[in-house]
Amino acid sequence: MSRKKNTILRHRFSQKNKDVFTKINTSIEFDKFLFNEDIEGSIAHAEMLAQQKIVTIAEKNKIISGLKKILIEIQKEKFIFKPELEDIHMNIENRLQELIGDVAGKLHTARSRNDQVVTDLKLWLRKDIDQIVSELKYLKKTIIRLAEKNIEVIMPGFTHLQTAQPISAGHYFMAYYEMFVRDVERFKETKSRLNKNPLGACAMAGTSFKINRFTTSKRLLFDAPTNNSIDSVSDRDFVIDYLYASSVCAMHLSRIAEEIVLWSSNLINFCKINDDMMSSSSIMPQKKNPDAAELVRAKAALLTSNLSSMLNIMKALPLSYSKDLQEDKRLIIDTSDNIHISIEVITEILKGMKLNKEKLLESASDGYSNATELADWLVKDMNYSFRKAHQITAKIVNYAEENHKKLENLSLKDFKQFDKNITDKIFPKLNIKNVVFSKTSYGGTSPLEVIKAIKKAKKEIE
Ligand code: ARG
Repeated sequence: MSRKKNTILRHRFSQKNKDVFTKINTSIEFDKFLFNEDIEGSIAHAEMLAQQKIVTIAEKNKIISGLKKILIEIQKEKFIFKPELEDIHMNIENRLQELIGDVAGKLHTARSRNDQVVTDLKLWLRKDIDQIVSELKYLKKTIIRLAEKNIEVIMPGFTHLQTAQPISAGHYFMAYYEMFVRDVERFKETKSRLNKNPLGACAMAGTSFKINRFTTSKRLLFDAPTNNSIDSVSDRDFVIDYLYASSVCAMHLSRIAEEIVLWSSNLINFCKINDDMMSSSSIMPQKKNPDAAELVRAKAALLTSNLSSMLNIMKALPLSYSKDLQEDKRLIIDTSDNIHISIEVITEILKGMKLNKEKLLESASDGYSNATELADWLVKDMNYSFRKAHQITAKIVNYAEENHKKLENLSLKDFKQFDKNITDKIFPKLNIKNVVFSKTSYGGTSPLEVIKAIKKAKKEIE
């Protein structure tokens, strides 16, 4: 790394920085992604300075045209980022100086990098959240389509990963839909809470210049200026909110990913994943592996760690700004990259997922998944207490298991050994399909309920 002097900020120093200092202090590699927002914020600031007569119109015009040139240079990848200039803010300011001369120095009047970086981050996160929300919308639509296709497909529902009760596969997928509804809400709340403008808080105390923070707020589409200059530069709650919303979303994606891995295993064989989302083995020619789903599962761990890192960076930080805060960018960009790709991967896998309906139905009728139905019937038709019905049913299940039979294949005589009041009315109740159709309580698994849920979801998504 070169030992070039940072000419803008080093006039108080007699020595050049050691390379190792530059190495730890620079953030350009992980904050240059803020270039758009840095320029957007600077233009708004320059406009305000001119409006408040802190700079002249001519100076403002010169500054803004210089900033626009820099934007094009960065977009065309002609801009040279210099680590010794620390961060995106100083890199842009330095280039502005090269392009328009000393008037560039006026841009930083009544501003500090401390309020500048928070402003940039908030602007960037707003856009990133919009992007995540639109990707989640597409995922939600994909799930609805998959659910709709499989409303009448019967599968086993599990608790403790033991067969519990038969359910509609459509109902099952709609459970994931609900999670992503909450995720969208969390992201939207994060966006609306962060939308206060920190620009003008300056280093931490505000300024004696007659700035107008309402003008920059309006120009940058913030709801209002932040209330307290100290809090403005030291607050990273919005980063934690974003990392949290992303972690929860990644956790949901990881749960689906886990099911995809299990379901597509030849041991379980509940579904097939399209070849275009599988990879092979370097040694075993027969293999088709769900690598993408496995990576989504792992990425949830990375995102949780990012959230934990940010909370730990913040937890003992004295007010107001400290350089520790610079490390937030690494966490944000890593989380952003990983949440986008995780959403996209799960969407793609679900789009191509084919359910093995025969296997699902077969598994649904294994494991005495209709036993609860027998107990419920004893309550409804015999007026037994549920506890009594539970005990009789447990004994019948034991008997059936010993005789290697399903409940529906026992004879009436078999049933009567356990309770003489049982009649042949029980048999249709035990039919697996009927069991599923009987769960008509609001939010239950009956296909009729699932159709309603899907209809509601479609309406919500528009
Ligand atoms: N790169 C820094 C950050 O991301 C900019 C903030 C101000 N730096 C400073 N020395 N006060 O936090």
